[in-house]
Amino acid sequence: MTHHFLALTGETPDSFRLLLDRSAFWKRSVREGMPESARLSGRGGGGAVLALLFQKPSTRTRVSFEMAMHHFGGRALYLSPSEVGLGSREAPEDVARVLGRYVDGIMARVFQHDDLISLARFSGVPVINGLSDIEHPCQALADFLTIFEHSTKEPAGGTLTFLGDGNNVCHSLMIAAALTGTHFRWCGPKGYEPLSDYVDRFQEIAEETKSRLELTNDVSAAAGSDFLYTDVWASMGQEDEAEKRRERFRRYQLNEDVLEKSPGARVLHCLPAHRGEEITDGVIDNPNVSVVFEQAENRLYAQMAVLERAFSE
Ligand code: CP
Ligand code: NVA
Repeated sequence: MTHHFLALTGETPDSFRLLLDRSAFWKRSVREGMPESARLSGRGGGGAVLALLFQKPSTRTRVSFEMAMHHFGGRALYLSPSEVGLGSREAPEDVARVLGRYVDGIMARVFQHDDLISLARFSGVPVINGLSDIEHPCQALADFLTIFEHSTKEPAGGTLTFLGDGNNVCHSLMIAAALTGTHFRWCGPKGYEPLSDYVDRFQEIAEETKSRLELTNDVSAAAGSDFLYTDVWASMGQEDEAEKRRERFRRYQLNEDVLEKSPGARVLHCLPAHRGEEITDGVIDNPNVSVVFEQAENRLYAQMAVLERAFSE
C-alpha cells in the first residue's frame, strides 16, 4: 500500500492521533538525539530521496522537508517553480511517471489539487501535499501539535476560531479540529466560507468525535476562544484580488480588540504573515499569546511523522 498524504479528509481520528504522537516523538528525538534506527531507506539500499516539487514559493515547507530528510539520513531534491512546468511544459501524469522512476517519494506544492491526485496515481511512490488550492494538511498537523502543547482542555483543543478566508489552511485546520474533537469556528465575510464538501466532511467526522462547527460573519462571535488563528486574505495566486479582499476582510483582522475578548487565548498563524492586514504587529509579536514561531518549528516534526508513515511498508 502506498501511503499518500494528500488531504486530511482521508484521515480517521485514530490515524491523525498517531501522526500527532509520532510528531511529538520526533520533536523529542531531534532535540535530545535521534535513535540509531531512524533512517529512511530508498531503492538500492541508500538513504531515501524525496523530490520537492514547487509551483509556488516557500520558506517553511521547503526547509523543513529538507531538514526532515537530513535527520532521516536521506536527501531532498528541490525542483523550483520555474523548472518542471507541471501542466505547462509537461503533463502532470508524465512528470509523475518519470519522477517515480528516480526518487522514493514526492512532496508537491501545486495550484490545482487534481495535479496532486495525478502525481499520486501515476508515480508509484508516496505523494505528500505541501499545499494545494484546497488543503495544506502538513500545516494542520503542525498546528494541532502546537495546540495540544498549549491546550488546557485535553484531550480536545477547546474552541479554535479561524478568522478570514475559508481557504486551503482553513480547510485542513477544520478537518483536524473535527478529528480531534475540537470546537471550530469560522469567522469571515459572506462569500468566503469554507467549501460545502468540507463542512459536510466535518459533520461526518463529528458524529464520532462530537466536535462542533460554527460558521459566522459576525466578528464578535470570536469572543471566548482558546485559540485564534488567521491566514493571509489573498493566497498565492490570488494577488490580483488583493485590493478587493483587503476591503472585504478588514473587519476580520486579528488585532488587540479581538484578542481582548478571548482572555488567555493563544494566537496561531501559518506564516508568511501580511503584518498590518490580517494580523497586527502587537498581536503577532506579543510573547504572552503568540505561538507562531513554535508553530513554524513544529512543521519539521509533523512532516517527520508524515514521512515515517509514507516510507513505511
Ligand atoms: N506555512 C507555510 O507553508 O509556509 P511556506 O509557504 O513558507 O512554506
Ligand atoms: N493560504 C496561503 C497559505 C500560505 C502558507 C496560501 O495559499 O498562499
